[in-house]
Amino acid sequence: MSDMSLKSTPVTEEIESYLKKYFSSEDEFLYNLRMEAKAAGMPEISISPIQGLFLQLILKSINAKKVLEIGSLGGYSAITMARALPYDGILYAVEINKNYCDFINRKVLEAGLSDKVKVINSSGRDFLQNLPVDEIFDFIFLDADKSGYINYVNLANPHLRKGGMIAADNALAMGKISDASDDENAKAIHNFNLFMINNQDFFTSLVPIGDGLTIGLKL
Ligand SMILES: C[S@@+](CC[C@H](N)C(=O)[O-])C[C@H]1O[C@@H](n2cnc3c(N)ncnc32)[C@H](O)[C@@H]1O
Repeated sequence: MSDMSLKSTPVTEEIESYLKKYFSSEDEFLYNLRMEAKAAGMPEISISPIQGLFLQLILKSINAKKVLEIGSLGGYSAITMARALPYDGILYAVEINKNYCDFINRKVLEAGLSDKVKVINSSGRDFLQNLPVDEIFDFIFLDADKSGYINYVNLANPHLRKGGMIAADNALAMGKISDASDDENAKAIHNFNLFMINNQDFFTSLVPIGDGLTIGLKL
């Protein structure tokens, strides 16, 4: 019997174009944001538009109202996610780079999302260590330093509601995840992936979309 259905279909250039055309969260505003971020010298490492739509689906499916993002760059994913929140939703965008924070604040204002996005200039660790116990999130998105992911989950776990989710980008380590031996980032992500699937507080899967999202549901 053929094992065709056991294998993932490779995402060819044509399929990637198909997904971008029909399953993208990117509009003109987000496209311009990407271009402006690039012109401002920021690295082109924001989530893909296809990941954006998927994150919006998750947020809507768990009725997320309060979201935390660690690592925000130019605000592309923050604005994408904030758009999927209800009128009284809030997203905290924690970013270590002050210039990036200024850029995000400008874009958030332009997007008319000042009520929904709070930009915090801090390291993810300092932010989480000083977070009051009563700050509880529905969804936490990790997209900062990969070596910090495990620590972020440990620090953030008490602040995530049951039925909430934590998602981490770059779960496939730019394709290096299955042979991570000579790449520090890939090793850190591999260790994180194992940490998540062995963590009894979460039900975890990895979705190979963009550079991969590891997603844990808080039990
Ligand atoms: C991959 S980019 C984030 C992309 C963004 N989530 C998006 O999709 O638009 C990673 C960001 O994490 C920030 N960062 C790195 N280390 C950090 C830390 N320890 N705490 C908070 N942010 C950090 C970097 O400055 C960078 O802007």
